[in-house]
Amino acid sequence: MAQIRHRVDFLVLGSGAAGLSYAIQVAEYGSVAIITKNNAAESNTQYAQGGIAAAMDVADSIENHVRDTLIAGAGLCDEQVVRTIIGEGPAEIRRLIEEGASFSENNGALHLGKEGGHGKSRIVHAADTTGEVVEETLLDRVKRHSNIQLLEHHFALELITDHHLGQHVSKVRPDIKCFGAYVFNESEDSVETWLAKSTMLATGGAGQVYLHTTNPSVATGDGVAMAYRAKARVANMEFVQFHPTSLFHEDARSFLISEAVRGEGAVLLNMTGLRFMSDYDDRLELAPRDIVARAIDDQLKTHGDPHVWLDISHKPAEMIRHHFPRIYARCKEVGIDITKDKIPVVPAAHYMCGGVFTDVNGQTSIERLLACGEVACTGLHGANRLASNSLLEALVVGYRSSALAVEIMKTSNWMEEIPDWDDSGTTHPAEWILISHNQDELRRIMWDYVGIVRSNLRLERADRRINLLYEETEAFYRRSRVSLGLCELRNMIAVAYLVIRSASIRRESRGLHFITDYPETVENERRMTFI
Ligand code: FAD
Ligand code: SIN
Repeated sequence: MAQIRHRVDFLVLGSGAAGLSYAIQVAEYGSVAIITKNNAAESNTQYAQGGIAAAMDVADSIENHVRDTLIAGAGLCDEQVVRTIIGEGPAEIRRLIEEGASFSENNGALHLGKEGGHGKSRIVHAADTTGEVVEETLLDRVKRHSNIQLLEHHFALELITDHHLGQHVSKVRPDIKCFGAYVFNESEDSVETWLAKSTMLATGGAGQVYLHTTNPSVATGDGVAMAYRAKARVANMEFVQFHPTSLFHEDARSFLISEAVRGEGAVLLNMTGLRFMSDYDDRLELAPRDIVARAIDDQLKTHGDPHVWLDISHKPAEMIRHHFPRIYARCKEVGIDITKDKIPVVPAAHYMCGGVFTDVNGQTSIERLLACGEVACTGLHGANRLASNSLLEALVVGYRSSALAVEIMKTSNWMEEIPDWDDSGTTHPAEWILISHNQDELRRIMWDYVGIVRSNLRLERADRRINLLYEETEAFYRRSRVSLGLCELRNMIAVAYLVIRSASIRRESRGLHFITDYPETVENERRMTFI
């Protein structure tokens, strides 16, 4: 059967805050296709609660926000990038408001929340449904734009590069180009060739690589895996952020209890009822989240407890319901009234600080390939992301990178010589039980051996086991027809490999990476990890 080929000026992979804000800008200059693997709104963006960090208050300043970001980043932030992104934050908030986003107010001014590591209240939010408001605002704009096609249930399989012209690209080179992507159209069960003058990778995070995560099921690290296979530079993958407070309840997997709850005065108690954060950090519950997550992990391991408690019930019930309507409702559904009851919480994988290495305009190491949002590593977060800096980064870099893409468009053409997807020899449909078993195994290995606290022994074990999964899955992939589950599994294995490899390279503890064999931070090791 003849395969379908499409030509578009700007190809965008992913429909979260990063992809949508970029698409809206470039649509003024040419045709845009947004490829997204589920319903358009399904993304990490959609579930963001706390908000967007920006120095909007007269009592605050860009300099304060920069300082807090650099402190959280533990010596690995790129200060110039930090200044650029944070400096453009307030303008980005104003742009969102002009687009129609409605944020929480207090006496006619923006209500600014407080989160861990921030010296000031600077979190712009829409109660605890900020992500939904951002996603809806941007999607609404995208759907009204005549230059933009939005393709749901389309899965980006591979980036198309010189490799597909028959050149053997075996390592990172300065001259690799990206010509678009092969995309699996789920409803047609076929692989389409999308040729583009530039391609934006905005596929989000990889929380699903861990057993416990706050991320939705789409977050399987596809973008980093595709870029790695295409020989892009990937950086800092050892820095996986674990959110300290994910709801611990068998009927409510992956539900976040926002840090903003601690910002409003919630305290952490162990199962004997003791408030324990003073044993770990003077900033107590509002210490940066790596410190809080490790403190909880320590409490759980020391006492053998399944969870700790988060308690905000001493605050006025009206305030709690007003600020946290979604958290209140979700907890109520599983029998917890947060205005009266303590909330059982555990840490969970939340955010990938590493990713495809880019500059502050989204340029990757591959020509005509841009990346932004959680899939990218710009240098903003360093070794640990400051809370609510990621929506900010997705929006600012999404906006900024449009100028670069427009320049690329002016000098590029579609690479017509690219062959269609070759699926000869892949007769067998993928067997779901093999996929789901290997996914479960991978997620358990990562949780047990490459989690909040690491050691050389655990990393070596994880490496051996992931290697086995890799070999088995590659053999299976070569003989099976394309399926979403199998491709996601392949991508998750690639991400797991990158995290383990990066963690093994770093011979110190820094920010989110804590390894018992090298518990100290070492000045000589202060550099990014590149793979
Ligand atoms: P996403 O929003 O995840 O979008 C990625 C898109 O790519 C999705 O549409 C996905 O379906 C699509 N996609 C993925 N792979 C493929 C593929 N192979 N083919 C096609 N499409 C694909 N950050 C903050 O700053 N403040 C917060 O308050 C906050 N709260 C959070 C709460 C939760 C529960 C979570 C999970 C995260 C939170 N974060 C927060 C982090 C923040 O939401 C994300 O980092 C940010 O939204 C990422 O935006 P993005 O556009 O890069 O990716
Ligand atoms: C939260 O609301 O706690 C999440 C904020 C973030 O991840 O930036």
